[in-house]
Amino acid sequence: MKIAVIGTGYVGLVTGTCFAESGHVVTCVDVDQRKVDLLRGGGVPIYEPGLEELVKRNAREQRLFFTTLAAEAVAGADVAFIAVGTPPGETGEADLTYVLNAAADIGKALTGYCVVVNKSTVPVGSAERVREVLARTTTHPFDVVSNPEFLKEGAAIDDFMRPDRVVVGVESDRARAVMADLYAPFVRAEQPILFMDPRSAELTKYAANAMLATRISFMNEIASLCDRMGADVDAVRRGMGSDKRIGHPFLYPGVGFGGSCFPKDVRALMTMARFIGLDFDLLRAVERVNERQKRSLVEKALRHFGGSVAGKTIGVWGLAFKPKTDDMREAPALTILEALVGQGAKVRAHDPVAREVAAQMLRGTVELVEEPYQAAAGADALFLVTEWNEFRQPDWARLKATMKGHVLFDGRNVWDPAKARAAGFTYFGIGRR
Ligand SMILES: NC(=O)c1ccc[n+]([C@@H]2O[C@H](COP(=O)([O-])OP(=O)(O)OC[C@H]3O[C@@H](n4cnc5c(N)ncnc54)[C@H](O)[C@@H]3O)[C@@H](O)[C@H]2O)c1
Repeated sequence: MKIAVIGTGYVGLVTGTCFAESGHVVTCVDVDQRKVDLLRGGGVPIYEPGLEELVKRNAREQRLFFTTLAAEAVAGADVAFIAVGTPPGETGEADLTYVLNAAADIGKALTGYCVVVNKSTVPVGSAERVREVLARTTTHPFDVVSNPEFLKEGAAIDDFMRPDRVVVGVESDRARAVMADLYAPFVRAEQPILFMDPRSAELTKYAANAMLATRISFMNEIASLCDRMGADVDAVRRGMGSDKRIGHPFLYPGVGFGGSCFPKDVRALMTMARFIGLDFDLLRAVERVNERQKRSLVEKALRHFGGSVAGKTIGVWGLAFKPKTDDMREAPALTILEALVGQGAKVRAHDPVAREVAAQMLRGTVELVEEPYQAAAGADALFLVTEWNEFRQPDWARLKATMKGHVLFDGRNVWDPAKARAAGFTYFGIGRR
């Protein structure tokens, strides 16, 4: 098939590349000329494990193309994916401007029947709005499909190639057959393609993210109880997760959730509910707990240092909102760094890949260094904020020798408290004894 993908962000680029890898001819479109130039030159604008190699190979083998012109990609396309951003609007709702603009670009460029697929995370009813835009901008026949994406940054290729399930909101049999054909190579391990109506598909995406965010906030609350009651959250987590009805994933307390999806999707779902007169009280609590959690490490540090970190040097390991990505959107590190700097601390931070992105966002308020032990050098305390693998087993003796104070604030519970204490550190985790 000939496929157009509008938007070459985390979702669009991975989608386009994986469909090219399965044999289709894909043209990815972005309004950002710099991104398109970089991609055409064999570069990749984001850090995503395995992506660069796949982009290069499929481009070389003439299955993957990049352009700034929607018309070039859409003319003759069997399928056109919309994978542009849906950032929060002023009151928390998802801003559909980019999606509707992309739909108009597609409509103007159609040359025949096309399945227009919405991959962006969009509010319930968006498929109808996309259909209206297309009806205004083309006389060619089309179908609109809602196909939300569930990939995780840092494991995006694997998630796309081997999804748990594929959700397809579709009303026409013709479009349904196209979607089944398109996804067949990715569901060979009998993962379900769940066909449903578009409104249900749109809501499924928000419901899934809101559920995951709720688990995280729930565990962060349990961890706060553990901190105050002398219980150990690792033991409680294991005890809970072993119950098959609960399961282990997403029961890890930490410094709160961030990234480009959970915070905005929780807000968008609450706003969607409010617009129709429903109060999603549970999600309000999820969000409130998360905001509080992002400040929890700093509060622990303030308590430890007698109420002030002014004049202290704090080393920070990890800035990205999670490991294996350079995405800093709504990263808890931003709240933590702002609080530390605001309290008068000097901060020196290291992240294995997010340094450049962080530098643009932090604008010189924090010193960013190339190497983890450089961030710890002379520090009164070390914060672990993102659980990159390379931080998991530090050289305790080297850390001890390089730091001035010997206090660790482990925001992801990755260090063994017994080992850290045996090495001469004062250790604080999240809800750990
Ligand atoms: N990032 C994730 O992990 C993830 C996972 C699942 C779903 N989603 C959803 O997928 C959507 C895209 O997310 P993302 O993280 O890839 O966004 P992103 O911001 O990384 O990328 C969006 C891209 O679209 C481009 N764009 C905007 N308007 C355009 C237009 N009219 N024509 C061509 N290009 C245009 C932008 O320049 C940008 O490069 C969002 O709705 C998001 O909620 C994201």
